[in-house]
Amino acid sequence: MYAISLGDDGAELRPLEPWHAEEFLAHLDRGREFITRHIPFGVGATDVDSARAVLRTWADKRATDNGGLHGLWLDGKLVGGVLFRVFDAVNGTCEVGCWLEPAGSGRGLVTRAMRVLIDWAVDGRGIHRVEWRASSANEPSIKVARRLGMSRDGVLRGNSVHRGVRQDTEVWSVLAPEWRAARARTTHNDH
Ligand SMILES: CC(C)(COP(=O)(O)OP(=O)(O)OC[C@H]1O[C@@H](n2cnc3c(N)ncnc32)[C@H](O)[C@@H]1OP(=O)(O)O)[C@@H](O)C(=O)NCCC(=O)NCCS
Repeated sequence: MYAISLGDDGAELRPLEPWHAEEFLAHLDRGREFITRHIPFGVGATDVDSARAVLRTWADKRATDNGGLHGLWLDGKLVGGVLFRVFDAVNGTCEVGCWLEPAGSGRGLVTRAMRVLIDWAVDGRGIHRVEWRASSANEPSIKVARRLGMSRDGVLRGNSVHRGVRQDTEVWSVLAPEWRAARARTTHNDH
């Protein structure tokens, strides 16, 4: 068990695991409508057992090095998370994702947590390409991709259906050399 501080506002990044099922369910119930506006994240978690099953699926992904889930805690309360939806160390590619309940949004939690995840993927695991996918209608998500310095690769027109509506998916990415160069510029400007 570990926790990574994301700043001086009490925000922490920690692994989100099956034993968090009750806390995860309570968090989803507080934010369900907001969280699922553009993505189906957590829709299968409707009681403690199904919440545990969702977390177990993610734990399996971590165990097989195919992905993983981290939660975001603010002053000890689970308010969202960041994830490797896809993780392919052999090809050096991954896809990251995120969600927040309303109480966690607008504070830079996802942007800060994503920097930790991407640093780890690039420096610790040799990942070359980090991908971000979002519905074209999901402006807050696209703003995060832009804030992280990602480039817009393109749009997959009409490639998915959510809540009965067909949608376009934007694909954004950052490559390891770009990530390192942007980080060096930021660090340089900090001094
Ligand atoms: C997508 C989603 C996570 C974005 O949430 P968010 O709060 O905008 O993202 P962050 O946590 O990075 O916070 C950024 C906001 O906090 C502000 N902020 C405050 N302090 C900040 C800091 N230290 N660093 C960066 N941003 C900060 C930013 O200005 C920004 O607000 P703005 O968009 O009004 O300019 C959220 O809308 C969500 O959970 N949606 C539902 C689930 C979903 O769609 N997930 C994405 C699927 S692709």
